Amino acid sequence: MAVETTLVLIKPGGVQRRLIGEITRRIELRGLSVVGLKLISAPRPTVEEHYAEHRERPFFGSVVDYLTSGPIVAMAIQGENAVKAIRATMGATNPVEAGPGTVRGDFALSIDDNLTHSSSDPEAAARELALWFPEGTL
Ligand code: PPS
Repeated sequence: MAVETTLVLIKPGGVQRRLIGEITRRIELRGLSVVGLKLISAPRPTVEEHYAEHRERPFFGSVVDYLTSGPIVAMAIQGENAVKAIRATMGATNPVEAGPGTVRGDFALSIDDNLTHSSSDPEAAARELALWFPEGTL
C-alpha cells in the first residue's frame, strides 16, 4: 500500500464561492485525511516558485495574479495513492473536460478559474509540500 501525501490549493475563486467545506467534504468522504490546513494570503514569491516550471508560458503572469488576488486554502492530504486519488476527485485541469461528479465537473467551467490545484505526481507533491508547509505537516 502506497501511503502518499499531496498538496491541494483551493484557489481564490473557490474561497469566494464558499466551496471550502464542499471540497474538503469530498476529500474526506473519499477516505483521505487532512494532515495540514491553512487559510492564507499567498505571498507572490511563493506562487511564482510554485508555478516556476510554467514561467515561460503565456498564462504565467495571469495565474500568479489570480492566486494572489484573495485568500486561498492550502491543504496537505494523506492516504493510499493520495496523489492520483485527489486528481481524480478534482477532475481534469480544464473544467470543460472534467466529468460530472468531480469538483471541477460540478462547480467550474473555465481553466482560469478551475477552483483547485493538486500535485501532479509524488515528486511534485514533495516539492510543493515543502514550499507551502515549510513548518511541516502532521
Ligand atoms: S497539469 O495538469 O498540471 O499537467 O496541467 P497543465 O496543462 O500543465 O497546466 C499547469 C497549470 O497551468 C494552468 N493553466 C492555465 N492557467 C490559466 N490559463 C490557461 N490557459 C492555462 N493553461 C494551463 C493549469 O490550471 C495548471 O495549474 P493548476 O493550478 O494545477 O490548475
